[in-house]
Amino acid sequence: MTGKRADNIVILTGSGVSAESGVATFRDKDGVWSKYDYRQVATPEGFAADPALVHEFYNARRRALPGVEPNAAHKALAELERGLKARGGKLTLITQNVDDLHERGGSQHILHMHGELLKSECAHCGAVTVSAAELSLDLACERCKQAGGMRPHVVWFGEMPRHLDEAADAIANADLFVSIGTSGSVYPAAGFVAEARALGVPAMELNLEPSENAHLFTDVRYGPAGEIVPPWVSEILG
Ligand code: OAD
Repeated sequence: MTGKRADNIVILTGSGVSAESGVATFRDKDGVWSKYDYRQVATPEGFAADPALVHEFYNARRRALPGVEPNAAHKALAELERGLKARGGKLTLITQNVDDLHERGGSQHILHMHGELLKSECAHCGAVTVSAAELSLDLACERCKQAGGMRPHVVWFGEMPRHLDEAADAIANADLFVSIGTSGSVYPAAGFVAEARALGVPAMELNLEPSENAHLFTDVRYGPAGEIVPPWVSEILG
Protein backbone atom coordinates (compact mmCIF):
# COMPACT_ATOMS: atom_id res chain seq x y z
CA MET A 1 0.00 0.00 0.00
CA THR A 2 1.06 3.59 -0.44
CA GLY A 3 2.49 5.40 2.59
CA LYS A 4 -0.29 8.01 2.44
CA ARG A 5 -2.82 7.81 5.26
CA ALA A 6 -6.20 6.63 3.99
CA ASP A 7 -9.09 8.57 5.55
CA ASN A 8 -11.70 8.12 2.87
CA ILE A 9 -12.07 4.44 2.09
CA VAL A 10 -14.52 2.56 -0.13
CA ILE A 11 -14.95 -1.14 0.59
CA LEU A 12 -16.75 -3.67 -1.59
CA THR A 13 -17.63 -6.93 0.13
CA GLY A 14 -18.83 -10.24 -1.29
CA SER A 15 -19.98 -13.55 0.10
CA GLY A 16 -16.45 -14.49 1.23
CA VAL A 17 -16.76 -12.04 4.14
CA SER A 18 -19.71 -14.06 5.47
CA ALA A 19 -18.22 -17.50 4.74
CA GLU A 20 -16.76 -17.98 8.23
CA SER A 21 -20.18 -17.13 9.67
CA GLY A 22 -21.55 -20.17 7.85
CA VAL A 23 -23.19 -18.43 4.89
CA ALA A 24 -22.39 -20.24 1.63
CA THR A 25 -20.50 -18.43 -1.12
CA PHE A 26 -21.67 -18.80 -4.71
CA ARG A 27 -18.87 -20.09 -6.91
CA ASP A 28 -16.64 -21.97 -4.49
CA LYS A 29 -16.85 -25.77 -4.39
CA ASP A 30 -20.18 -26.53 -2.64
CA GLY A 31 -21.24 -22.93 -3.32
CA VAL A 32 -24.86 -21.94 -3.98
CA TRP A 33 -24.47 -22.13 -7.77
CA SER A 34 -23.18 -25.71 -7.57
CA LYS A 35 -26.57 -26.71 -6.14
CA TYR A 36 -28.97 -24.38 -7.96
CA ASP A 37 -29.28 -23.10 -11.50
CA TYR A 38 -29.13 -19.32 -11.15
CA ARG A 39 -31.42 -18.98 -14.19
CA GLN A 40 -34.18 -20.74 -12.25
CA VAL A 41 -33.81 -18.92 -8.92
CA ALA A 42 -32.13 -15.59 -9.61
CA THR A 43 -33.65 -14.15 -12.78
CA PRO A 44 -37.01 -12.45 -13.51
CA GLU A 45 -37.65 -15.19 -16.06
CA GLY A 46 -37.09 -17.91 -13.47
CA PHE A 47 -39.50 -16.17 -11.08
CA ALA A 48 -42.15 -15.88 -13.78
CA ALA A 49 -41.76 -19.56 -14.65
CA ASP A 50 -41.82 -20.95 -11.09
CA PRO A 51 -42.46 -18.38 -8.36
CA ALA A 52 -42.91 -21.04 -5.67
CA LEU A 53 -39.41 -22.43 -6.33
CA VAL A 54 -37.88 -18.94 -6.15
CA HIS A 55 -39.79 -18.09 -2.97
CA GLU A 56 -38.59 -21.29 -1.35
CA PHE A 57 -34.97 -20.59 -2.37
CA TYR A 58 -35.02 -17.18 -0.65
CA ASN A 59 -37.23 -18.31 2.24
CA ALA A 60 -34.62 -20.95 3.09
CA ARG A 61 -31.86 -18.34 3.10
CA ARG A 62 -33.99 -15.94 5.17
CA ARG A 63 -34.78 -18.73 7.65
CA ALA A 64 -31.05 -19.43 8.07
CA LEU A 65 -30.17 -15.86 9.10
CA PRO A 66 -31.00 -16.11 12.81
CA GLY A 67 -28.65 -19.10 13.03
CA VAL A 68 -25.57 -17.23 11.82
CA GLU A 69 -23.57 -14.53 13.55
CA PRO A 70 -21.27 -11.78 12.31
CA ASN A 71 -17.62 -12.79 12.36
CA ALA A 72 -14.43 -10.91 13.19
CA ALA A 73 -14.30 -9.36 9.70
CA HIS A 74 -17.79 -7.83 9.94
CA LYS A 75 -16.95 -6.48 13.40
CA ALA A 76 -13.61 -5.05 12.27
CA LEU A 77 -15.30 -3.22 9.38
CA ALA A 78 -17.75 -1.65 11.85
CA GLU A 79 -14.80 -0.57 13.97
CA LEU A 80 -13.17 0.90 10.87
CA GLU A 81 -16.31 2.94 10.14
CA ARG A 82 -16.30 4.34 13.68
CA GLY A 83 -12.54 4.96 13.68
CA LEU A 84 -12.48 6.79 10.35
CA LYS A 85 -15.44 8.93 11.39
CA ALA A 86 -13.72 9.84 14.67
CA ARG A 87 -10.75 11.26 12.74
CA GLY A 88 -12.90 13.14 10.22
CA GLY A 89 -12.76 10.47 7.52
CA LYS A 90 -15.37 8.24 5.99
CA LEU A 91 -16.02 4.60 5.14
CA THR A 92 -18.37 3.76 2.30
CA LEU A 93 -19.30 0.11 2.69
CA ILE A 94 -20.80 -1.41 -0.43
CA THR A 95 -21.86 -5.03 -0.19
CA GLN A 96 -23.08 -7.55 -2.73
CA ASN A 97 -24.38 -9.64 0.16
CA VAL A 98 -28.09 -9.90 0.88
CA ASP A 99 -27.54 -11.10 4.47
CA ASP A 100 -27.69 -8.70 7.43
CA LEU A 101 -24.34 -9.56 8.99
CA HIS A 102 -22.73 -6.16 8.37
CA GLU A 103 -25.66 -4.54 10.19
CA ARG A 104 -25.43 -6.99 13.07
CA GLY A 105 -21.65 -6.57 13.14
CA GLY A 106 -22.23 -2.90 13.96
CA SER A 107 -21.85 -1.12 10.60
CA GLN A 108 -24.16 1.89 10.37
CA HIS A 109 -24.16 2.79 6.68
CA ILE A 110 -24.29 -0.05 4.16
CA LEU A 111 -25.10 0.09 0.48
CA HIS A 112 -26.70 -3.25 -0.39
CA MET A 113 -26.19 -3.20 -4.15
CA HIS A 114 -27.80 -6.64 -4.65
CA GLY A 115 -30.67 -6.01 -2.23
CA GLU A 116 -31.56 -7.43 1.16
CA LEU A 117 -33.03 -10.78 2.20
CA LEU A 118 -35.01 -9.16 5.00
CA LYS A 119 -36.95 -6.90 2.67
CA SER A 120 -39.70 -7.76 0.23
CA GLU A 121 -41.35 -5.72 -2.47
CA CYS A 122 -44.82 -5.67 -3.98
CA ALA A 123 -45.12 -5.77 -7.77
CA HIS A 124 -48.60 -4.20 -7.53
CA CYS A 125 -47.85 -1.02 -5.55
CA GLY A 126 -44.05 -0.96 -5.30
CA ALA A 127 -44.03 -0.96 -1.47
CA VAL A 128 -40.82 -2.23 0.10
CA THR A 129 -41.46 -3.99 3.42
CA VAL A 130 -38.95 -4.93 6.10
CA SER A 131 -39.93 -8.40 7.17
CA ALA A 132 -38.50 -11.80 8.00
CA ALA A 133 -41.80 -13.44 6.99
CA GLU A 134 -41.89 -16.30 4.52
CA LEU A 135 -42.82 -15.06 1.08
CA SER A 136 -45.41 -16.82 -1.06
CA LEU A 137 -47.92 -16.07 -3.77
CA ASP A 138 -50.60 -16.09 -1.06
CA LEU A 139 -48.98 -13.39 1.03
CA ALA A 140 -50.75 -10.03 0.80
CA CYS A 141 -48.84 -6.76 0.62
CA GLU A 142 -49.02 -4.82 3.89
CA ARG A 143 -49.75 -1.60 2.02
CA CYS A 144 -52.10 -2.41 -0.90
CA LYS A 145 -53.42 -5.66 0.66
CA GLN A 146 -53.19 -7.50 -2.68
CA ALA A 147 -51.73 -11.00 -2.83
CA GLY A 148 -49.73 -12.52 -5.66
CA GLY A 149 -47.23 -9.70 -6.16
CA MET A 150 -44.70 -10.17 -3.37
CA ARG A 151 -41.10 -10.83 -4.34
CA PRO A 152 -37.79 -10.78 -2.49
CA HIS A 153 -36.15 -7.33 -2.50
CA VAL A 154 -33.05 -8.80 -4.12
CA VAL A 155 -31.46 -7.93 -7.44
CA TRP A 156 -31.62 -10.73 -9.97
CA PHE A 157 -29.42 -11.28 -13.00
CA GLY A 158 -30.70 -8.99 -15.73
CA GLU A 159 -31.80 -6.34 -13.20
CA MET A 160 -30.04 -3.12 -12.28
CA PRO A 161 -28.02 -3.22 -9.05
CA ARG A 162 -28.83 -0.51 -6.52
CA HIS A 163 -26.81 2.51 -5.32
CA LEU A 164 -24.54 2.60 -8.38
CA ASP A 165 -24.40 6.42 -8.47
CA GLU A 166 -23.43 6.61 -4.79
CA ALA A 167 -20.82 3.92 -5.34
CA ALA A 168 -19.31 5.75 -8.33
CA ASP A 169 -19.21 9.06 -6.43
CA ALA A 170 -17.61 7.41 -3.41
CA ILE A 171 -14.95 5.70 -5.54
CA ALA A 172 -14.17 8.96 -7.35
CA ASN A 173 -13.55 10.67 -3.99
CA ALA A 174 -11.75 7.82 -2.23
CA ASP A 175 -8.12 7.60 -1.30
CA LEU A 176 -8.30 3.80 -1.11
CA PHE A 177 -10.58 1.16 -2.64
CA VAL A 178 -10.69 -2.26 -0.98
CA SER A 179 -12.33 -5.45 -2.21
CA ILE A 180 -13.03 -8.17 0.38
CA GLY A 181 -14.29 -11.72 -0.19
CA THR A 182 -15.52 -11.48 -3.75
CA SER A 183 -14.49 -13.44 -6.82
CA GLY A 184 -14.82 -10.45 -9.16
CA SER A 185 -17.12 -12.40 -11.47
CA VAL A 186 -20.27 -10.26 -11.42
CA TYR A 187 -20.46 -6.83 -13.00
CA PRO A 188 -20.85 -3.95 -12.32
CA ALA A 189 -19.31 -4.66 -8.88
CA ALA A 190 -16.38 -6.47 -10.49
CA GLY A 191 -15.64 -3.30 -12.47
CA PHE A 192 -15.20 -1.04 -9.41
CA VAL A 193 -11.50 -1.82 -9.11
CA ALA A 194 -10.89 -0.72 -12.72
CA GLU A 195 -12.91 2.46 -12.08
CA ALA A 196 -10.80 3.19 -9.02
CA ARG A 197 -7.50 2.58 -10.81
CA ALA A 198 -8.55 4.70 -13.80
CA LEU A 199 -9.04 7.57 -11.34
CA GLY A 200 -5.67 6.98 -9.70
CA VAL A 201 -7.15 5.47 -6.52
CA PRO A 202 -5.00 2.68 -5.04
CA ALA A 203 -6.81 -0.63 -4.68
CA MET A 204 -6.35 -3.50 -2.27
CA GLU A 205 -7.68 -7.05 -2.41
CA LEU A 206 -8.35 -9.06 0.76
CA ASN A 207 -9.57 -12.52 -0.23
CA LEU A 208 -9.06 -16.20 0.42
CA GLU A 209 -7.34 -16.53 -2.96
CA PRO A 210 -6.61 -14.30 -5.96
CA SER A 211 -9.83 -13.14 -7.62
CA GLU A 212 -10.33 -12.87 -11.37
CA ASN A 213 -9.27 -9.20 -11.12
CA ALA A 214 -6.29 -9.76 -8.84
CA HIS A 215 -3.87 -8.24 -11.38
CA LEU A 216 -5.69 -4.89 -11.15
CA PHE A 217 -4.96 -4.35 -7.45
CA THR A 218 -1.99 -2.38 -6.16
CA ASP A 219 -1.81 -4.49 -2.99
CA VAL A 220 -3.13 -7.95 -2.11
CA ARG A 221 -3.46 -10.07 1.03
CA TYR A 222 -4.77 -13.62 1.03
CA GLY A 223 -6.35 -15.65 3.83
CA PRO A 224 -9.72 -16.06 5.59
CA ALA A 225 -11.43 -12.69 6.05
CA GLY A 226 -11.84 -13.24 9.80
CA GLU A 227 -8.04 -13.53 10.08
CA ILE A 228 -6.78 -10.91 7.64
CA VAL A 229 -9.35 -8.10 7.92
CA PRO A 230 -8.94 -7.26 11.66
CA PRO A 231 -5.13 -6.72 11.48
CA TRP A 232 -5.56 -4.64 8.31
CA VAL A 233 -8.15 -2.46 10.08
CA SER A 234 -5.76 -2.03 13.01
CA GLU A 235 -3.05 -0.86 10.61
CA ILE A 236 -5.38 1.66 9.00
CA LEU A 237 -6.56 3.02 12.35
CA GLY A 238 -2.98 3.04 13.59
P1 OAD B 1 -18.34 -15.86 -5.17
O1 OAD B 1 -18.79 -17.18 -4.68
O2 OAD B 1 -18.29 -15.64 -6.62
O3 OAD B 1 -16.90 -15.54 -4.58
C1 OAD B 1 -16.60 -15.68 -3.22
C2 OAD B 1 -15.16 -15.28 -3.00
O4 OAD B 1 -14.91 -15.32 -1.61
C3 OAD B 1 -14.15 -16.20 -3.68
O5 OAD B 1 -13.16 -15.41 -4.35
C4 OAD B 1 -13.52 -16.96 -2.50
O6 OAD B 1 -12.15 -17.24 -2.71
C5 OAD B 1 -13.69 -15.96 -1.38
N1 OAD B 1 -13.75 -16.57 -0.04
C6 OAD B 1 -14.29 -17.76 0.32
N2 OAD B 1 -14.18 -17.94 1.64
C7 OAD B 1 -13.55 -16.83 2.14
C8 OAD B 1 -13.12 -16.43 3.43
N3 OAD B 1 -13.31 -17.19 4.52
N4 OAD B 1 -12.50 -15.24 3.54
C9 OAD B 1 -12.28 -14.45 2.47
N5 OAD B 1 -12.65 -14.79 1.22
C10 OAD B 1 -13.29 -15.96 1.05
O7 OAD B 1 -19.27 -14.78 -4.43
P2 OAD B 1 -19.43 -13.21 -4.73
O8 OAD B 1 -18.19 -12.65 -5.28
O9 OAD B 1 -20.01 -12.63 -3.49
O10 OAD B 1 -25.31 -12.10 -6.96
O11 OAD B 1 -20.55 -13.25 -5.84
C11 OAD B 1 -21.02 -12.05 -6.38
C12 OAD B 1 -22.47 -12.19 -6.74
O12 OAD B 1 -22.69 -13.37 -7.52
C13 OAD B 1 -23.40 -12.37 -5.55
O13 OAD B 1 -23.78 -11.14 -4.96
C14 OAD B 1 -24.58 -13.06 -6.15
C15 OAD B 1 -23.83 -14.06 -7.01
O14 OAD B 1 -24.53 -14.56 -8.09
C16 OAD B 1 -26.61 -12.32 -7.27
O15 OAD B 1 -27.23 -13.28 -6.88
C17 OAD B 1 -27.22 -11.24 -8.11
